[in-house]
Amino acid sequence: MTKHADALPTTDAHAPERLDPRSQDIAADKLADLLYVFPEIRSEGGGIDFERLRLALGEAVDAGKERFGLVWPGKADCFKTIQRPSMGTLRPCPEASVNWDATENLIIEGDNLEVLKLLQKSYLGKVKMVYIDPPYNTGSDFIYPDNFSESLQTYLEYTGQVDAEGRKFGTNTDTDGRFHSKWLNMMYPRLYLARNLLRNDGVMFVSIDQNELAALICMLHEIFGEEHFVATFVWEKRTTRENRRVFSFNHEYVLCVAREKTAFERARNLLPLTEDVRRRYANPDNDPRGPWQSVSLNAQAGHATRDQFYSITTPGGRLLEAPPGRCWTVTKSRYDELVADNRVWFGAAGNNVPREKCFESEAKDGLTPHTLWTADEVGTNDSAKKELISIFEGEEVFDTPKPPSLIRRMLEIATDDEDLVLDFFAGSGPTAQAVLELNRDTGGKRRFILVQLPEETGHERYRTIAEVCTERVRRTLTRLGTEEDGHLALTAEGCREDRGFRVYKLAESNFKPWQADRPKDGQSLIEHMSGHVEHMLRGRSAEDLLYEILLKSGFPLTTLVETLDLAGKTVFRVAGGALLVCLDRDLTLDVIREMARLKPERVVCLDSGFAGNDQLKANAVLEFRDRGVTSFRTV
Ligand SMILES: C[S@@+](CC[C@H](N)C(=O)[O-])C[C@H]1O[C@@H](n2cnc3c(N)ncnc32)[C@H](O)[C@@H]1O
Repeated sequence: MTKHADALPTTDAHAPERLDPRSQDIAADKLADLLYVFPEIRSEGGGIDFERLRLALGEAVDAGKERFGLVWPGKADCFKTIQRPSMGTLRPCPEASVNWDATENLIIEGDNLEVLKLLQKSYLGKVKMVYIDPPYNTGSDFIYPDNFSESLQTYLEYTGQVDAEGRKFGTNTDTDGRFHSKWLNMMYPRLYLARNLLRNDGVMFVSIDQNELAALICMLHEIFGEEHFVATFVWEKRTTRENRRVFSFNHEYVLCVAREKTAFERARNLLPLTEDVRRRYANPDNDPRGPWQSVSLNAQAGHATRDQFYSITTPGGRLLEAPPGRCWTVTKSRYDELVADNRVWFGAAGNNVPREKCFESEAKDGLTPHTLWTADEVGTNDSAKKELISIFEGEEVFDTPKPPSLIRRMLEIATDDEDLVLDFFAGSGPTAQAVLELNRDTGGKRRFILVQLPEETGHERYRTIAEVCTERVRRTLTRLGTEEDGHLALTAEGCREDRGFRVYKLAESNFKPWQADRPKDGQSLIEHMSGHVEHMLRGRSAEDLLYEILLKSGFPLTTLVETLDLAGKTVFRVAGGALLVCLDRDLTLDVIREMARLKPERVVCLDSGFAGNDQLKANAVLEFRDRGVTSFRTV
């Protein structure tokens, strides 16, 4: 429905369009969607005529001045933050990756706001489950400072560890007058952008404690719509008593909200039958149908019909009525059928109140998930910490990990075989571990995308949390390989599971942006234009450029890329030929023809590859058009 504005206009009909190095323009897309649904509201200048929109919506417009909802200082700037396109890119780091060529898992180092913007085009509507464990705003945690007009700049300064005035970035302390607002300003744009990435039947789980529970629920209601709020799960995070506080806080929350609640509910999985549940089945009467457990045959009489009240005679001769205020769960004729089929149990002596036998072999595929997640089922903070220490062979590298078993519970409820899972507050990476282990146990191919800031740890070996995260995933892979094969088996060969991950790092775009807001005096313009004669950043590789082009053309970061030699030039064939990219200089008509012969859907070349030869460029436009290429762009 949306026509993405990813090309900059050119003036010449025989010249290719220029690829726009900015990320997805969210506001432009929403505007296009609105105009698609209500073409009559287009104003003369292409904007929205609100009066006509009001008329088109008729009774549905709420014209009242007072509104229900959450307000805080800075909320308006959140929308500016969301709408400002990212000028960043994600640089590939094969040297830090495992199984680069075969894997579809991603670990991205960077600020998640910029990264979420960069992922908008390629991963729109593709993610089945998001899990996040953001800072809880307890007064001591680090809140990443967003500046709506310059957030990439903030990141670049952050990774240099000092801000523009040379001050250290700090924690969000509760003495700060804007304590809640700062947290809300940080969370709102990220949740908003993450929702766009969810599939229609996708779902988001968010860990939180009571500090920001109320604000988070209101914010999720606003972003997702109250009708798509699914559940508040209670997680028993500790089993010991915390005596140094007024109350021992033994639980926290996992909020669950869906992109489309009914679609999610249809897709929701039952939980596997646990050993605990299986142990409840027995076979005291040697029934040939196997073990069974019994359920009550009487219920509250509230909505009972007349034929649910009758007398029963037990095999031992006892005459029974339903207990006072209760009825039998089945009618007399159904009861007789059950007895005839030996499905009613009166106890070993044959004189108990009857119960219905439910056979294990006929049990439903699983259990309806509880909203209470107990420590023995999904682990605790303490078990998570011990598990991480054991993965790092005794070293303590991260303070507040979540148990992978907690995240596994969410994966079991919300994901299937090949689904994509996103965690953009990845920390030490338990989400990746949970995905890999569940895949091992079920033969699945779920994939993950983790995003983590290179926040310093103070640890000598693993300097940042992003490094801790990649190391944990690497060690998990090693362990899985060793466990199964007795040796380190990281390659995906012969193994259906994805045993690897690609690392990308957030950085400034490879293409210098044209800054339209620069001073327009002659000297500034000359300086700026001369900077654009070579508009690529120095030191960037062909792969850097390639992956930025993929991302900004809407291809996932793990799309298949083949390297071809055509007429002496290197050409990247993306997604089996959907896109051809040539980043070589001194292009010739031969290479243009060779590329056109492959009949790609789209082509991208360097503008400087034509070295000012407008004739060659015009020929390229014609050659590609003749072969049915739908889009030819230069960068
Ligand atoms: C509560 S921790 C997550 C812990 C994780 N669930 C685990 O079990 O290891 C929150 C993480 O989000 C990271 N973080 C905070 N702000 C971020 C941002 N703007 N972009 C990416 N990561 C961020 C922090 O560095 C921290 O590691």
